[in-house]
Formats: sequence, C-alpha cells, structure tokens
Amino acid sequence: MRAVDIIRKKRDGEKLSAKEIKFFIENFVSGEIPDYQMAAFLMAVYFQSMDFEETTTLTEAMMHSGTVLDFSDIPVPKVDKHSTGGVGDKISLPLAPLVASCGVVVPMISGRALGHTGGTLDKLESIPGFRTDLTPEEFHNAIRNVGVAIIGQTEDIVPADKKMYALRDVTATVESIPLISSSIMSKKLAEGIDGLVLDVKTGSGAFMREYEKAAQLARTMVEIGKGMGRKVIALLTNMDQPLGRMVGNAVEVLESVEVLQNSGPADVRDLTLALGARMLLVAGVADSVESALNMLEEKLASGEAYEKWVEMVRNQGGDPDAIFAPDFIKTKYNDVVVAHEDGILQKFNTLQIGLAAAVLGAGREKAEDQVDHKVGIVVLKKVGAHVRRGEPLFEVHGNDRERMHRAVELLKNSFVIGNFEPEPQPLIFEVIE
Ligand code: URA
Repeated sequence: MRAVDIIRKKRDGEKLSAKEIKFFIENFVSGEIPDYQMAAFLMAVYFQSMDFEETTTLTEAMMHSGTVLDFSDIPVPKVDKHSTGGVGDKISLPLAPLVASCGVVVPMISGRALGHTGGTLDKLESIPGFRTDLTPEEFHNAIRNVGVAIIGQTEDIVPADKKMYALRDVTATVESIPLISSSIMSKKLAEGIDGLVLDVKTGSGAFMREYEKAAQLARTMVEIGKGMGRKVIALLTNMDQPLGRMVGNAVEVLESVEVLQNSGPADVRDLTLALGARMLLVAGVADSVESALNMLEEKLASGEAYEKWVEMVRNQGGDPDAIFAPDFIKTKYNDVVVAHEDGILQKFNTLQIGLAAAVLGAGREKAEDQVDHKVGIVVLKKVGAHVRRGEPLFEVHGNDRERMHRAVELLKNSFVIGNFEPEPQPLIFEVIE
C-alpha cells in the first residue's frame, strides 16, 4: 500500500477502505508518512468528504493511535459530555459533579480557552491549588474513589489528533465535518466511556454558527458513536447569547457553584439539567428524561451535588472555600458599558463578547498566552430586556488599562437595541439520538 495511491483515490472522490484509512493514520503517527502527504490527504478529505463508514474508521484509527483509558475495573456506567464551545459555557463545572452525585462515573477530559471561547481547565485552575494535570494513576483513583475528575488532555491520548490538528490549522482544513467529528470523537471515546452527550452549539458565539452545519456535525458524531457501539445523544443548543451572566474564569466558577447550590441563572441551570438528564439516560440509570430530571433536581435540592463538587475540588488539590473570599474575583479596574438609547435588546454578537473577555486576559490570543483568572465580564441584560439610555448592559473587570479599553470598545459593538420584541429563542433547538 502506498500513501500516494490513497491520496489519489480520495482526491478523485472514491471511498477508502478501512485498511487504507488505518494504514494512513498508523504510518503518519509512526513518522513513515510525512506531513506533506498528510496535508494533501486532509485537503482531499476537505473537498471530497467521507461517508459515515469512512469517518467511523478514521475515528477508530485515531483513537487507537495512543492510550485508550480502561475503567472496566469500576463496575459503574461511565459517561461524559462534550461541548463544541461557546461564550459563558461553564456547564461542565456544575454538570460533572451533579451527574456523579447520581452514582454515574464521569471521567472528563477537557480543554483550554482558545480564540473567543473559554476553557473548562482555565476556569477550574482559578481555584487555588486545583490540579488539572493528574497522573493517569491519580485520575484512575479519583474516578474510583470520588466518581468524577476533570483533567487536561495528555500527550499519549490520541497523538494522531495532535499532529493532524496542527496541520489542519495551517492548511485551511479545519472546517470539515468528517475531520472535526473524528477529532472530537476519537478524543472522547479514548476516555474509556460507555456513553457520551454532545452539546453542539449554533449561533453567533458558536464554532459552527450555521444551524444546518451544526446539525450535520451533531448527526455525524452520533452516528460515529453508534458505529463504535457507544450510546451518544446530541443536543443542538443556542449560542446566540452568552450562557448565564458571567464570562471569564473565576466569575464562571462562582456562577457554577450557584447552580450547584440550587440557584443560579435559569439558562445555566436548565442546560445543565437537560444535558445531565441525557447523561443519566445513556448511563442507563434513568429510563425517561422526566425521571432523570427528578433525580437531578433532588440532588441539587439535597445539597449532594454541591457536596460532590467539594469532594472533587479537594481531591484535585483545590480549596473549595477559597472561592468565597472577596479577592477571588478582585481586579484593579472596573467599568461598565451602557445602552446608547432607550429600547429593547434585540440581539448580541456573542463572538464579540467572547473576544472582549479574551482581550481582557480571560482567554488566549495564542496557545502559549497566560490566562488572568480574575478578569471577566458580567452580562447584566439579556436579549428581550427593556433598557434605558445610560443603563449598564455589561460590567467589565480587568487588570490592565489598555486591555480594558479594547474590551470596552468590542462590547460597545456587541449588541443591537431596537423597538420591537424579538422572537423568543429556545435554549435547546433539537435532540439528536
Ligand atoms: N474541536 C476539536 O477537538 N477538533 C476539531 O477539529 C474542532 C474542534
């Protein structure tokens, strides 16, 4: 078998066999196939795409390019959630301990902020002492003893994706449904989970802004999961405005804890419950969305979900009480962005709000940038709110005057005020099973 023949076959729109796909991935990871041939292969896939069977084989080959975690010694269903990312998307923080408090194991491997979207690991690392770099043994023990842990990607999980993503980034081949789906699913399924719930976002703050493309991505990932014998449910959710009120790191931890203490903003709570209910369904511990919701609501009301959070934070070296100290979110400078006219908030450019948070230092412009955990934005008004000229729409909290100025300018252009009541938008558009 020769790499050039496989590239030519895909270039000409033919279907690749499982043997050809596996050969390509294995030999790329071992170094036999050079970057320039992988780059050509990626471009061929970008233009000619792959069917479900090819995409599933690609996912499997990528997943087996490194360590696949094995929790089979823990006789409890293991499930996880993946979000395609958004602004103010802190859902993993309340969700993982909440679901674990229902007796399901959640071995969550998360990412960092990049571009306009935040990252679960950066949020958690704002808690003094919290470690996201547990060793494989510590991760395993955490899963066995606590039932939940949230850590970062390790070098030996799906090395194929690391190398392929680096090439996709510089060859304009990121935006391909089979390549995105195999990238996400190979990493998630390498966690050794039985089921997965996907939160695929669409709207002005999403990675896939267009509804149809997001739906296609969700369907492809559900099919891959099925093809690999896992239970996968995808929710197509709204990212046309930030989730909750807080956008940043420490501020998002506080909002997550509010949800775990049985309050918090309605959208964050509702999405946490909706995703949690599907996690309980794929885990097989509930037989209907309704019974799953009842179970989750009980865990919030009884305080067991919050206790599981405290246990998880302590087990990963963090101090769960430190977040209540006033300096947890204290910044040097604070400002507000106000409405420039009377009217009704019609819509946000959510991407712009995410970029403003990144500019403040809550995210990264380049992968190697340091995150400032304390800075952030408070979204005071949401779509549909009636506002008066001069009324604050955003609070901005920063540690650098020049960054504050840039963030405020971005926020000033991130909303539209008009005269009519905007159509109410659902939080969840579609459930794909
Ligand atoms: N997230 C991933 O992990 N991979 C992609 O290709 C795109 C988004």
